Amino acid sequence: MHDQSSTPSVGAAPELFTWEFATDPYPAYAWLRENAPVHRTRLPSGVEAWLVTRYADARQALADQRLSKNPAHHAEPAHARGKTGIPGERKAELMTHLLNIDPPDHTRLRRLVSKAFTPRRVAEFTPRVQALTDHLIDAFAGRGEADLIHEFAFPLPIYAICEMLGVPREDQDDFRDWAGMMIRHGGGPRGGVARSVKQMRTYLGELIHRKRDDLGDDLISDLIRASDHGDHLTEGEATAMAFILLFAGFETTVNLIGNGVHSLFMNPVQRERLQASLAAGESGLLATGVEELLRYDGPVELATWRFATEPLTIGGERIGTGDPVLVVLAAADRDPERFADPDTLDLSRTDNQHLGYGHGIHYCLGAPLARLEGQTALATLLTRLPDLELAVPAQDLRWRGGLIMRGLRTLPVRFTAQ
Ligand code: HEM
Repeated sequence: MHDQSSTPSVGAAPELFTWEFATDPYPAYAWLRENAPVHRTRLPSGVEAWLVTRYADARQALADQRLSKNPAHHAEPAHARGKTGIPGERKAELMTHLLNIDPPDHTRLRRLVSKAFTPRRVAEFTPRVQALTDHLIDAFAGRGEADLIHEFAFPLPIYAICEMLGVPREDQDDFRDWAGMMIRHGGGPRGGVARSVKQMRTYLGELIHRKRDDLGDDLISDLIRASDHGDHLTEGEATAMAFILLFAGFETTVNLIGNGVHSLFMNPVQRERLQASLAAGESGLLATGVEELLRYDGPVELATWRFATEPLTIGGERIGTGDPVLVVLAAADRDPERFADPDTLDLSRTDNQHLGYGHGIHYCLGAPLARLEGQTALATLLTRLPDLELAVPAQDLRWRGGLIMRGLRTLPVRFTAQ
């Protein structure tokens, strides 16, 4: 229940977007859920937006078609440009991606991409993800120490999606560099980011053009092949789609792995349970465990932007036409109204309909791939490096202060060298 005694204070609203907040936003979210569940605030960019923090309101808002994803509906569109989409994104063509459009355009594109990016394709990719995971661990296993973000969590998703898309092996390191630029300087259209986005877009456009005459067994070829009642993706649409798959599936998965390992370090009893279950050859706790890690400290702190297309009410607050609404997934997923002992990590939690992958028509398209990568990464790390531990005091870890994403800058670890 929303019991005031469980909140840190009932005074003034906590300061958001500070360094302390980036390190541990959960006390502030508990305060907001209790005292101002739909809260208007000024974001660091200067944009005013509503934060929705209770689970019931969040779930409803995510499915509310009156909340548009199209930044053209923002009351201050010029102000928000470059702050609501892909950092450094300029070209209208790239702007037309799933996370920026509404039905019927969204319905059409999502239907076409779903024909190519199928759960079956992901399932068939399992051995490749395992091989990539082992290859990355091989590179540092002999050293007895590593930075798990830079050497593991960061490269794994980028190589995985490149390989799935059909980017030739010799070009994948370019993607690693471009993605590194975007993750380091994301959130604003700064020079290096804009250049990386442009290089990625140009590369993907050329690759799609080449593959048109030489279709293979990869996701880009399937995006080109995909048809629905005679409808196809144009080359521009296929480029934007490949780009959004990379963009939406990259930093999220880095942080699923990083935040997940961190949560296990902070909860040694749960970690031991998971290790014992893996040693016994079971996979059940791994599957529920990765879902719980997403609920407990997931990578997407806030769902991407939504804008009211008409006046509406959320949790008793009047939202005006053009107002931006940010659904705080991280707050909703710790709501005691929905989850028993929400601040406790319980890897065997079953009644766990968390919002970590969103909800409604924009529900994460890549969830099967994210689950595969998350489960493979954690199981392989804990099995191959069983005495893995944090190499610095936990309070020395630094979190990225981004708005949408929550993740560690580095995760130094040590273990017995193999
Ligand atoms: C959408 C989370 C990995 C592709 C979303 C949304 C969330 C999310 C919360 C909805 C955003 C909103 O409604 O504003 C995650 C998490 C991941 C992950 C937590 C990793 C743990 C991936 C991967 C891919 C991917 C690996 C693809 C390779 C997408 C796409 C959308 C999306 C294309 C837009 C879907 C649409 O608008 O119809 N994701 N994601 N995601 N995700 Fe993921």
